[in-house]
Amino acid sequence: MDFGKNKIECSKLKQKKSKRKVKITFANHLATSQNRGLFSLRFPGASSLPGFQKIMSSQSANEDCLGWAARDPSGVLSPYKFSRRAVGDDDVHIKITYCGVCYADVVWTRNKHNDSKYPVVPGHEIAGIVEKVGSKVQGFSVGDRVGVGTYVNSCRNCEHCNDRLENFCGKGVYTFNGVDADGTVTKGGYSSYIVIHERYCFKIPKDYPLASAAPLLCAGISVYAPMMRHNMNEPGKSLGVIGLGGLGHMAVKFGKAFGLNVTVFSTSMSKKEEALNVLGADKFVVSSDQEQMKASANSVDFIVDTASGDHPFDAYLSLLKKFGVLVLVGFPSEVKFSPASLLLGAKTVSGSVTGGTKQIQEMINFCATKKIYPNIEVIPIQYANEALERLINRDVKHRFVIDIENTLKEE
Ligand SMILES: NC(=O)c1ccc[n+]([C@@H]2O[C@H](COP(=O)([O-])OP(=O)(O)OC[C@H]3O[C@@H](n4cnc5c(N)ncnc54)[C@H](OP(=O)(O)O)[C@@H]3O)[C@@H](O)[C@H]2O)c1
Ligand SMILES: [Zn+2]
Ligand SMILES: [Zn+2]
Repeated sequence: MDFGKNKIECSKLKQKKSKRKVKITFANHLATSQNRGLFSLRFPGASSLPGFQKIMSSQSANEDCLGWAARDPSGVLSPYKFSRRAVGDDDVHIKITYCGVCYADVVWTRNKHNDSKYPVVPGHEIAGIVEKVGSKVQGFSVGDRVGVGTYVNSCRNCEHCNDRLENFCGKGVYTFNGVDADGTVTKGGYSSYIVIHERYCFKIPKDYPLASAAPLLCAGISVYAPMMRHNMNEPGKSLGVIGLGGLGHMAVKFGKAFGLNVTVFSTSMSKKEEALNVLGADKFVVSSDQEQMKASANSVDFIVDTASGDHPFDAYLSLLKKFGVLVLVGFPSEVKFSPASLLLGAKTVSGSVTGGTKQIQEMINFCATKKIYPNIEVIPIQYANEALERLINRDVKHRFVIDIENTLKEE
């Protein structure tokens, strides 16, 4: 997940008020023990997590997992061999066949949040096949087609976990660059296999291609969850999508599947054709064109803001109708807007981070039933560095998916 030290909790935000602007600065860089909480990477209660002892004692050290890792903030990926834990009673061992390329992979390979733990093996949109199961595993069998998303552990005993909203668990562990219960730094899906507790593993329905399933595990759920939370599955409502990349294009797809009127707000004129003719958006607006933006004022009920870089908010808030909601899923370094942009029209700015395990499975099943497939470009692992560069340059309007099975080989 792209959260790092970013916590979308009021207590984790520094609020600065100037005369006219409301300025909210994410506490990106507070990599200290005070900064624990949602998906803390400095795992405060490792030994209290279920399975701690067992995992510690079953650690294997044979370095049989092949991966690609960044070694320093240059972010350049290269082959890397490492160990994963042996399969515990509740674990599944998954042979990874595909892994999507998320902007999170840029964030942590390049140490954007000042908390990267090198070597970083990125990747949290994982699809593959179960190869082994532990003795107590109930939900999966060898040969099952499965996915793994942005987190691989949680306490399994708090109010959030009990509601299957593990994404809010204070002891959640990221799929990569997190610190797991056994103290090891988690390594992601740019690798040949992964071992995880079955709770954080999802079934991919028969006939749904595994390469297409991968982006659902982060891009898909990250926009589906806030849309469902805000009842944006009611036909006839209007949706604005800021940024046409991995998350943005999935928001357009869900919007059309829900019967919404969808407008894409993009900084890239070159994405117009894709938005309108490939994704079926109803309208495309170049956000730098003030005339077009003015003409779109008060036109949408809800905005999903997936922009990965810093951007002004007032212009986007003016697009909302009264009582409209802008939900932030991207991670700009700050959120700053005029109070008038909220007050006039009684608008809301909200946030969202991935989804719980119950909803992730629901979203995957929904995509299978409705035949919603991410637009993907399957690439060899050898192209991963260039793919990350292209994300930085906003030169992607779909999702890159790495063909791990066929291209990640021992050099
Ligand atoms: N909340 C969550 O659960 C969650 C999960 C995954 C990722 N994320 C975050 O969501 C964001 C998007 O991730 P992604 O994987 O979809 O990235 P992506 O595929 O690279 O797409 C991001 C798009 O944002 C737009 N953009 C970039 N910089 C911008 C700027 N300064 N101003 C306006 N628009 C800008 C560009 O679209 P146009 O060319 O159309 O303008 C770009 O293609 C990232 O910040 C990522 O860290 C959040
Ligand atoms: Zn992601
Ligand atoms: Zn919990």
